[in-house]
Amino acid sequence: MINYTEKIPNNVDLGRDRVLQRALEHWQPAYMGWWYDMGPNESHNYEVYLRTAISVEPDGWAQFDYVKMPEYRWGIFLQPRDEKREVNFGIHKGQPAWQEVPGEYRSTLRRVIVTQGDTEPASVEQQRMLGASCPSMYDLRNIFQVNVEEGRHLWAMVYLLHRYFGRDGREEAESLLARRSGDADNPRILGAFNEPTPDWLAFYMFTFFTDRDGKFQLCALAESGFDPLARTCRFMLTEEAHHMFVGETGVSRIIQRTCEVMKENKVQDPSDVRALGVIDLPTIQRYLNFHYSVTLDLYGSDVSSNAANYYTSGLKGRFRETKLEDDHVLRDTEYPVSEVVGGKIVTKNAPALTALNERLRDDYIDEIADGVGRWQRVIANAGVPFWLTLPHKGFHRAIGNFAGHFISPDGEVLGEEAWKNHKFEWLPNPKDHAYVQSLMSGRVVEPGKFANWIAPPARGINNQPLNFEYVRFN
Ligand SMILES: [Fe+2]
Ligand SMILES: [Fe+2]
Repeated sequence: MINYTEKIPNNVDLGRDRVLQRALEHWQPAYMGWWYDMGPNESHNYEVYLRTAISVEPDGWAQFDYVKMPEYRWGIFLQPRDEKREVNFGIHKGQPAWQEVPGEYRSTLRRVIVTQGDTEPASVEQQRMLGASCPSMYDLRNIFQVNVEEGRHLWAMVYLLHRYFGRDGREEAESLLARRSGDADNPRILGAFNEPTPDWLAFYMFTFFTDRDGKFQLCALAESGFDPLARTCRFMLTEEAHHMFVGETGVSRIIQRTCEVMKENKVQDPSDVRALGVIDLPTIQRYLNFHYSVTLDLYGSDVSSNAANYYTSGLKGRFRETKLEDDHVLRDTEYPVSEVVGGKIVTKNAPALTALNERLRDDYIDEIADGVGRWQRVIANAGVPFWLTLPHKGFHRAIGNFAGHFISPDGEVLGEEAWKNHKFEWLPNPKDHAYVQSLMSGRVVEPGKFANWIAPPARGINNQPLNFEYVRFN
């Protein structure tokens, strides 16, 4: 169970380690300062119907109640330790899992934890203005839930930094509060986390695509031989599921509403669809293309000696590592990797160890394809002749073998000029942004009401009705 009587709720017996407790209590006001500055705009007095973790058991860990977000009980929750757990891959396979940081991997592990930790406050910063244009009270509550949990994920990584990395860790924890998404001088570490999230379609796409990158990174770290990291990530994954739910159902509800309006009014042409105040399907496809491609970059270079080292050292595993049936060392195996050679995309085998980023990206793409398939079913069920597609892996990429090449969504290698001529058919253009923005000029917050451009969800949160007062504005 989680101890909520302490200043910092935790299930790691924080009270027994006074030095650590004091260090974290010193960081806490800095975190609160960051939340007041960079958390959801003008939200600090709202009472929000939020879930809070009360145990780390998979069943029934959450309690729902009204909370002012600055009073949310951010804390440190790790899955219980399995005394028999081992390092399950790499050269240390079979050794007992590490309870302390192996000295030789200290700086590598620190970098992995900082990179993960940096994404958590970044997304809160990216989303902080969206409350002013929410399509319903239900959706407003959901974005706030995502935001407080990203804050908790930051706490999770900061605990590891403070507990296991001494002074360097404390400095890194401070830097995590100093960087700002999109800032020219002190940006967040990864590209996608410096992109703006200007509207709710972008928000749902972000939580579908980019939070799912978070899931896959956490899954790979949940396999880590460094046991505290694995246990932390396992609990974070239970929170992440809701974020992806918000994204998938958000896009799905937008598609559903668009299709309803198209059918009712017997219109197909995007300009006719827009005239009816809903988001046309080609615009949804362009948003999809954008968020998919910038998220694919987060997995890093297709061939990477860093990825090989992380694996060989036992620090970061593959997706579902322990469920895979092979030697978990990968010394003699290969994995297909694509590159552009002489204007053509060719696929070659690379050593599986160096291709681990690509493998994780492919696992991610499989899951994304399933989700896009579910969106497509909404369109098909409405009888609308439109097909959403996932662009080619090489489309609009800035990192890895496709970076610097101009690849169409169909996977055709183009010249720069030809690509640029089509750019705004494939990616959201200024008119799309202006149109979507025009739909979201104000917020809809009457209980049970939804903006015209989105369908209500199938059900409310925690079995509450759709017209429940999910947020009290005071
Ligand atoms: Fe997160
Ligand atoms: Fe998330």
